[in-house]
Amino acid sequence: MDGFNKVHVAPMVGVTTAHFNYFLRIISKNIGLYTEMVSTNSIRHGKVLNRVPRVEDKLTIQLAGNCPGELGFCAGLAEYKGYAAINLNVGCPSSKIKKANYGAVLFKSPSLVAACVGAMKDNCDIPVSVKTRIGVDDFDNYQYLARFIEQLLRSGCDEIVLHARKALLKGLSPKANRTIPRLRYDVVESIKKDFPDAKICINGGIGAIGSIVNFCDSFDSVMLGRIIDKNPMILQEIDKCIYNDVTNNYTRHDIFQHYSSYIDMHKYSYSNIMLMKPLMGLFYGTPLAKKWHKAIIDSFNSKNGIDLDGLRNLAFV
Ligand SMILES: Cc1cc2nc3c(=O)[nH]c(=O)nc-3n(C[C@H](O)[C@H](O)[C@H](O)COP(=O)(O)O)c2cc1C
Repeated sequence: MDGFNKVHVAPMVGVTTAHFNYFLRIISKNIGLYTEMVSTNSIRHGKVLNRVPRVEDKLTIQLAGNCPGELGFCAGLAEYKGYAAINLNVGCPSSKIKKANYGAVLFKSPSLVAACVGAMKDNCDIPVSVKTRIGVDDFDNYQYLARFIEQLLRSGCDEIVLHARKALLKGLSPKANRTIPRLRYDVVESIKKDFPDAKICINGGIGAIGSIVNFCDSFDSVMLGRIIDKNPMILQEIDKCIYNDVTNNYTRHDIFQHYSSYIDMHKYSYSNIMLMKPLMGLFYGTPLAKKWHKAIIDSFNSKNGIDLDGLRNLAFV
């Protein structure tokens, strides 16, 4: 497995925007990045699949869909646009996604998912992975999961990302589905043991640097979601501990300066909130965290543009 794929930032709608990815790429050149989930339906209706070359390198596009033909087409398009890999969403429990018969509900249709993966593989030469849960509703026994994995591997799936929680499609919001179902790392461990040659990425509730290092030893890769939004500076520790990259020594000030130039370039094209949200966690864990967080939130609704000098004075003078 390529070094840069050892740790991924999870796809997160409303979080892993191009702006957030730009911000993260300032902090780490090594980490694997994901887009937000993009539905095949939106691509059919004209959504443009552009990425920012060099900044958004090592970028995996996550697709949501259920039609092998459409997913095959989108896979070819994604490769043409320069994405590094493609991931199929088989884990999202939101009611809107479920209604479209996308996401976690597809866990109950392994043959269809395998056909989707097969079609994507036939239409591109970049890696295709699937992100799923360890179970969905009553489809939650180990034998079912193992058979599902087997089918995915037979269809050519290059990597399987396992969120170590089952999803409940009735009665739990997507947010509750990320906290209430119990984390079962043991299930993901059994899958890796039973499929030693398969590339298995573990996801769910991982945040401490010690557990990231341990999981990197036991699995092919590790995927981190909310911790990166909360504390993006953890990427510097990951660079050192996982990628042995000791050249990464930007200070918070350096990072802010780089990202400020980006904001200046894009401030007439995007809303304050879109541009400023990535900065929220920059001071996580420091005495300035609360004040900084509030200043960023205040900037969302500022009618007088974004006061970058005010933020600079607050944090760095
Ligand atoms: C705001 C938010 C949006 C998310 N959107 C997606 C998504 O579009 N596709 C997906 O596969 N998972 C999505 N997830 C789930 C994450 O990718 C990840 O599996 C989950 O948060 C568990 O990892 P964590 O405990 O490290 O956060 C989302 C999570 C959050 C918090």
